[in-house]
Amino acid sequence: MTNDFWSDGELYERYTGRWSRLIANEFIAWLGIEGSRLENCIDMGCGTGALSEALLANAVCESLTCFDLSPAYLSLAKKRIQSKEVEFLLGDGQNTLLPSGKYCGVVSGLAVNFVESPEKMLSEMRRLGRSGATLGLYIWDFADGMKPIRMFWDAAHECRAPDVEELDSANLFPICQRENLLESISEAGWLEPEVAPVEIDARFENFDDYWTPFLSGQGTAPAFAVGLGEEVREKVRQTLCAMVTHDSNEPFVLRTSAWGAKGIAP
Ligand SMILES: C[S@@+](CC[C@H](N)C(=O)[O-])C[C@H]1O[C@@H](n2cnc3c(N)ncnc32)[C@H](O)[C@@H]1O
Repeated sequence: MTNDFWSDGELYERYTGRWSRLIANEFIAWLGIEGSRLENCIDMGCGTGALSEALLANAVCESLTCFDLSPAYLSLAKKRIQSKEVEFLLGDGQNTLLPSGKYCGVVSGLAVNFVESPEKMLSEMRRLGRSGATLGLYIWDFADGMKPIRMFWDAAHECRAPDVEELDSANLFPICQRENLLESISEAGWLEPEVAPVEIDARFENFDDYWTPFLSGQGTAPAFAVGLGEEVREKVRQTLCAMVTHDSNEPFVLRTSAWGAKGIAP
């Protein structure tokens, strides 16, 4: 998977920030770690800091390592999170080069499907956790529950957009299916593995509010949208509009679901 589209943190925030900050809080509640005051945590693939900020706001850990491969996203996270308990590290989540058993909490939001080998990153997360550490992550349910992106792909299929079958996030990321995720965390050695839906409502002011960030190029669906010819893109836009709302000027809500995964480090 290419990382070319993780280039502009501000644009990413306008596209995903409105969902990723809400789901981060839901995930922490599901994981049951609010107010835990764990000695230290690492947020793998922290991006612009949605989950990191939620960890800090929910008093989950005394110190936090924000870890990501994108200098642009990490630099925005650094700007947003100014705390002496937080360090920022640039690197590959599949091979962090950090010592084994260093952390009491190892978490990741919306990132594991984007690395070349999700299995490697899941093993790396287990390796970084000290014995008994909380391991947890969430990734979008692209095949069904993540409606804002699912409906984009459904519209692209209806318009027979080029390469849609191959690039549809549901096909591109098999790890984002419940059974595959459960099997992968078990194989990576997470003890007491569990996978369950973590859900929020995404709210939009009107259709433009929903559609415009798809033109940011930040992420798989936006990269696909900007790569389309103008005519096909306009067809997709109109098809999608008819799918999500009866009145393009009115506010609307789409259910947005991720798979949460948790376990314990051996
Ligand atoms: C969809 S964003 C999620 C960011 C953030 N966790 C959130 O919830 O908004 C995916 C992130 O994974 C990061 N990423 C992709 N491949 C990575 C890798 N091999 N190692 C570390 N981070 C990676 C990207 O740079 C990007 O910040």
